Amino acid sequence: MKNIILLGAPGSGKGTQSEHLIQEYGFHHLSTGDIIRKNIHDNTEYGQLCKKYSEEGKLVPDDIMIAMVEDHLKNLQGSIIWDGFPRTINQAQKLDQLLAKLGRKINHTLYFEIDESKLIARITGRRICPKCGKTYHLTALPPKQEGLCDLDGSALIQRADDSVDKITVRLAAYHKDTAPLVDYYLHQQNLTVIDADMTGHAVWDQIVAVLK
Ligand code: AP5
Ligand code: MG
Repeated sequence: MKNIILLGAPGSGKGTQSEHLIQEYGFHHLSTGDIIRKNIHDNTEYGQLCKKYSEEGKLVPDDIMIAMVEDHLKNLQGSIIWDGFPRTINQAQKLDQLLAKLGRKINHTLYFEIDESKLIARITGRRICPKCGKTYHLTALPPKQEGLCDLDGSALIQRADDSVDKITVRLAAYHKDTAPLVDYYLHQQNLTVIDADMTGHAVWDQIVAVLK
């Protein structure tokens, strides 16, 4: 049972590569962004607590986020891809404790390194399926039929936080709170740098090389 963290700036390709990891290796996908969006969509108590933070591009406070992850983890067995969690040093320490209690550890942290100038085009061009969550891009990864999901035909939408003004807030949060995790996992000696500034196939090849 493996635990693999995908660490990287907004738009660096974590969700896209998670889709391949699920398909090829059967890992469970624990994406805190997806969990938050589902709770907001279903108007749960957690969703109401998260909405103003996530839609403005700010991080959800650690206590709320950690409680949501602990709830989610109860239903998961087997290997897990951690996509978007942890995102603060506090969350990383909490994850270490949670895994230790279960007799597990982090096997790999894949750090998606990318030139920041590429991120705006990736994020503003992103479209997602509201039903199954599959991610597309208007030019880099378009659906077969314009505006419709390849898998279930739903009309694709843009995320509420994918506007240029929200991206600035998200990047600031990334630099302040999340970027320090690179050093944190370097110290744990499980970090591999992935050059995320390449085609999706080339990024995937690097990931496969680490996991084999
Ligand atoms: P979250 O949903 O995790 O968003 P994010 O980290 O900002 O990352 P993204 O999902 O934007 O990017 P990605 O790396 O997954 O890129 P993708 O593969 O889609 O979090 C959203 C919000 O929830 C946060 O802002 C915060 O408010 C809250 N939150 C979540 N976790 C939290 C936590 N732990 N603590 C507190 N708050 C939390 O790719 C982007 C686009 O590029 C796509 O269109 C894709 O098709 C395209 N693309 C991908 N790879 C390539 C490639 N190689 N070449 C060209 N295009 C590519
Ligand atoms: Mg994502």
